[in-house]
Amino acid sequence: MIRVGVAGAAGRMGATACAAIESAADLELAGRADPALGAPLAAILDACEVVVDFTTPDAALANARACVAAGVHVVIGTTGFDVAALEGLRGANVFAAPNFAIGAVLMMEFAARAAAHMAAAEIIELHHDGKLDAPSGTAIRTAALMADASGRAAPAIHSVRLPGLVAHQEVILGDVGQTLTIRHDSTARESFMPGLLLAIRRVGGLERSPVVGLEHLLSG
Ligand SMILES: NC(=O)c1ccc[n+]([C@@H]2O[C@H](COP(=O)([O-])OP(=O)(O)OC[C@H]3O[C@@H](n4cnc5c(N)ncnc54)[C@H](O)[C@@H]3O)[C@@H](O)[C@H]2O)c1
Repeated sequence: MIRVGVAGAAGRMGATACAAIESAADLELAGRADPALGAPLAAILDACEVVVDFTTPDAALANARACVAAGVHVVIGTTGFDVAALEGLRGANVFAAPNFAIGAVLMMEFAARAAAHMAAAEIIELHHDGKLDAPSGTAIRTAALMADASGRAAPAIHSVRLPGLVAHQEVILGDVGQTLTIRHDSTARESFMPGLLLAIRRVGGLERSPVVGLEHLLSG
């Protein structure tokens, strides 16, 4: 059994993560931290081998520092902070992913591949109106992967925030007389859980740290 704590446990993603961890036979939900529950992260660290962070852009980095200082591995799903700041954290392993949905990882991969062959591209990302950061971490990472693959500047990103949405992204590539659209939709937060559980199981065994991106844990 891996003992797992959740930071941001009262939030949309944190609550879904708690339910997924409780349903997994090899994982034990060892603690819930959230100011909304009156429960600080420091109070649960002793009980945890891994902490999952779904908090806010201004809290995630301090939480990650507190985890590794206590020798607790951390899996970060929070977006909107600079992941470069995770470099140099020592004491335990750090894994971060802007998107734990397998379909979104494939969308990013396909977009990068297409960017090398099409003249231009733009990204439209659409999320629920409670999302704090814009553009999304997924869109920023997609744009960076496309820039690397094409050798051109990163594509422009357009952000839409509306009630009724969960997490969606469309990459539109254009060339003479044709367009190609690659679209991914997360219609429920459960879409992120298989990738999250994989990261929880694998973070302790990472050969380097930090690792950013779910694609690094997927084979084939
Ligand atoms: N990686 C992914 O696949 C993925 C998917 C969806 C959302 N996200 C990201 O996850 C994050 C959370 O999203 P959400 O919709 O659940 O937000 P939310 O606002 O519903 O929940 C955030 C929670 O964090 C709590 N919190 C704030 N500061 C804290 C701290 N210092 N310690 C512990 N808890 C703290 C808040 O009280 C709140 O309950 C966002 O950054 C979002 O972009 C990532």
